[in-house]
This record gives sequence, structure tokens and C-alpha cells, in this order.
Amino acid sequence: MNKKIAVLSGDGIGPEVTRQAVKVLEIIADLFGHSFSIEEGLVGAVAIDQTGNPFPEETEKVCRSADAILFGAIGHPKYDDDPKAKIRPEQGLLAMRKKLGLFANIRPVSSYDALLPISPLKEEIIKGVDFVVFRELTGGIYFGQPRGRAEDGNSAFDTCTYTKEEIIRVSRLAFEAARNRRKHVTLVDKANVLATSRLWRETVQDLAKDYPEVTLDYMFVDNAAMKIIQNPAFFDVILTENMFGDIITDEASVISGSLGMLPSASVGTTSSLFEPIHGSYPQATGKNIANPFGAILSAAMLLEYSFGLSEESQTVRKAVDKAVQDGFVTEDIQEDNAKGTEEVGDKVVDLIKQNALVNS
Ligand code: IPM
Ligand code: MN
Repeated sequence: MNKKIAVLSGDGIGPEVTRQAVKVLEIIADLFGHSFSIEEGLVGAVAIDQTGNPFPEETEKVCRSADAILFGAIGHPKYDDDPKAKIRPEQGLLAMRKKLGLFANIRPVSSYDALLPISPLKEEIIKGVDFVVFRELTGGIYFGQPRGRAEDGNSAFDTCTYTKEEIIRVSRLAFEAARNRRKHVTLVDKANVLATSRLWRETVQDLAKDYPEVTLDYMFVDNAAMKIIQNPAFFDVILTENMFGDIITDEASVISGSLGMLPSASVGTTSSLFEPIHGSYPQATGKNIANPFGAILSAAMLLEYSFGLSEESQTVRKAVDKAVQDGFVTEDIQEDNAKGTEEVGDKVVDLIKQNALVNS
């Protein structure tokens, strides 16, 4: 298979973790007889420094001409500490999601047996947890108009808007995923307060008629935040709007033992992008300590979702499982005998090669 992958490694630890994911894609291509050509693009604070724009047109072109996009992270403390900055790296990410129409963000959450002891949650609560969050990504309060500051500067406003169409397209993906899983969708909203949430309930309730084999239930977001900690095994597919999804997926990442483990896919009708959910982690930049598993598992999602290469994807996931089991991990997971970002990436590549030898 010949495919073109856009690689946008971005800021902070983005480049170093993305490098590991690219190594993994290269070995997969070698072993399975594919050809992946890589084209890089600037995004985030580095793009602002070099072009004045956090998502330059050139990068947009690279993304549009690629079969899939691998993304690192964006964000830089010099912008976080300056609420008055007019151009911010995050605008690049939001512009990219909007322009490429990446309306559904898919974030799987599972527990790793070997990591159970490091989770702040009790083992019996998180053992066997396996759910996936479908977060709407191009609507809601992140994008609603009007937004801004009142003329006198003393008040500010954001607008949360949703259309039925925006709700339906992401919800369909969630129901379809549920059909191949445990057939249970939980819609997370705040329908006791928000008009947009009531539209979500009404729309999803209607849509659910097309999926009679799937059980649908509803949960207010505050209650869901509690349940994710108390009884995460309850969930199979969580469907939710943009901001609620942002918040509960960071919360849910605790279950896997480290934010550094979680991959994600952002999909639309024409493009798909894959990124670890951890962000740019500026304090760790360049120190070779960042956890590359989230990026590597994002590459595994790319293989499966964009290219339909299930076996290849499975091979990557198995190698990550084995590295975690063997304690070949970075310091966020285990301080004693912690390995570096590069070494963990090399180990995964080795494990993939070994696995191929065994199977050949
Ligand atoms: C995420 C991030 C982004 C978001 C930020 C960086 C704009 O937190 O992808 O979850 O809020 O969507
Ligand atoms: Mn987030």
C-alpha cells in the first residue's frame, strides 16, 4: 500500500514523541511491504515564530494532500502566561480542526494491568476498564459566535451553539462504534440547565431509533465526572459535546495510569488526524523523558482507521503492551530504572521486529 502521511510535530515534546511514532510507522512499512511517504508541516508556536501564523496555508495544503495526519502537540508557556497575546498556538489547532472538518474526536480509555499499581484509583475499580469517548470537535462553546470582550472591557462572553446536523454526524459514529462493542452509549450533557444539551438529548434520542440493538442512557456531566472515578467500568461509549469531552477525557486518562499513554483520532469526511492527548508538556521538552506511547498508539490508530491495516495496528499495540509489561517505560510511569523517550521508541521497534520474526 502506498500512502502519504502529513507529520505535524508542533511544540514542546511534540517533535520527540512524534519521532518515535514515525520510526514505528517506518518499520511497519518495511515489514509489511507498504510505502509511507512523509511530508512535514509547521504548526503551533514554532509556526508563529517562523510565519506569524499558527496554522499556515502551506501546512493546510500538506494536510489536504495527505491520506492521514500525524500530530504531536502545540502550546508554549510564553503564550499561556500572556492572556493578552493576540495570536496563540491553540488557535492553530482549532483552525486546523475547523478547516479540515475534523468533527469527531475519538479517545479510547483502557487500563493496563502492569500500570494498575501506579494509578491513583484502586485496582478493583479500574481493572478491565475499556471505554471510548466520542467528543464533538468543531462546534459548541469553542467556536460559537458572538464571542469576545464588551467595549468597556469589563465583561466577556462566549456562545455555545449546536445544530442538529452537527449532533447527528458525530452521534452516528458513536452508535456505529457501539454496535461493534458492548452496545451501550451514554450521552453526557447538562440538559437540566443548557438549551444546547436539550437539543442533543432530543436529537440523539431520535437517532437511537436507527440502532435498536444499542442501549442509550443519559448522564449529566457533573454526575459523569463522578462516575468515571467511582465506576468507570460502567461505560462503553461516551458521546458528548466539545467542552465536556475535553474535560472528561483528561479526567479519564488517569485510569490508564498516565496521561502519556492515551492516543486519539480526530476524523472528518475528508481528513483524519491522530494525536496523543497529552499536550506539549514544556517542562520536559528536549530532555528525552516524555512518554512516547500516546504518540505511538496514535500511529496505531492511524493504521487502522485511515488505512484499514488492522493487523499492522494490532502489531504496534501488542509491542506497546509488551514494553509496558516488561517495565520498559519512561519516568512518568516508573521512576526506578526509567528509560528515555528514544530508548522506549527503539524498544517498540525491536519488539515489532521480533514479533514479525516469530510469525514469519
Ligand atoms: C485537547 C486540548 C485542546 C482542546 C487545546 C490545546 C485547545 O486540550 O485537544 O484536548 O481544548 O481541545
Ligand atoms: Mn484537552
